[in-house]
Amino acid sequence: MREIIFATKNPGKIREVNDIFKNSPIRLVSLFELSNVPEIIEDGLTFEENAKIKAELIFKTYGIPTMGDDSGLVVEQLDGRPGVFSARYAGESATDEENNERLLYELDGFSEPHHAKFVCSSAYFDGGKFLTAYGEVKGRIIKMPRGKNGFGYDPLFLPEGYTLTSGELSLEEKNKISHRAIAFKKLYSLILKAIII
Ligand code: IMP
Repeated sequence: MREIIFATKNPGKIREVNDIFKNSPIRLVSLFELSNVPEIIEDGLTFEENAKIKAELIFKTYGIPTMGDDSGLVVEQLDGRPGVFSARYAGESATDEENNERLLYELDGFSEPHHAKFVCSSAYFDGGKFLTAYGEVKGRIIKMPRGKNGFGYDPLFLPEGYTLTSGELSLEEKNKISHRAIAFKKLYSLILKAIII
């Protein structure tokens, strides 16, 4: 079985992406399983740049093929914010709850519906050419958080055509529609073609 590092320490992302790779000939190794993990500075201007930064730095550190991703919430009435700053919207080490509060604060005064989308760029690097993929899911932001599944802004996000928030959907349901699932299913196919397992 081949190993690929998934360059994240986000347990929510690890659960979702492991589920996508569960019946594959690939075992994902998260950053929790590695020692001396370097600090990753996400200073790219786009989701794709940040996904590549993560994949490249971790590949160069351990010499093992690596996937990285960068994702976030893009809110129409906020001109695309929090965007690439989604994880640190309420400050450098903000919790999910603090970020959610900040989002609702920023949206106060705008009329509903608050159209938004989750977007995700994924990247794979093994020293050759980058493989990259993209996914998004449209929806809207609601005023009262609902649900304890998922992570981040999930309790405030109602995917288009759904009555449950992403925080109320099961892992399996979320993985049918999520931005990350789309980006990683595409990346998975590209990796399989490239490495011909
Ligand atoms: P990063 O991709 O690790 O830089 O952080 C992305 C941030 O965007 C997360 O910390 C969340 O706040 C938010 N985010 C990304 N994907 C999701 C998701 O599937 N559900 C909820 N929030 C998300």
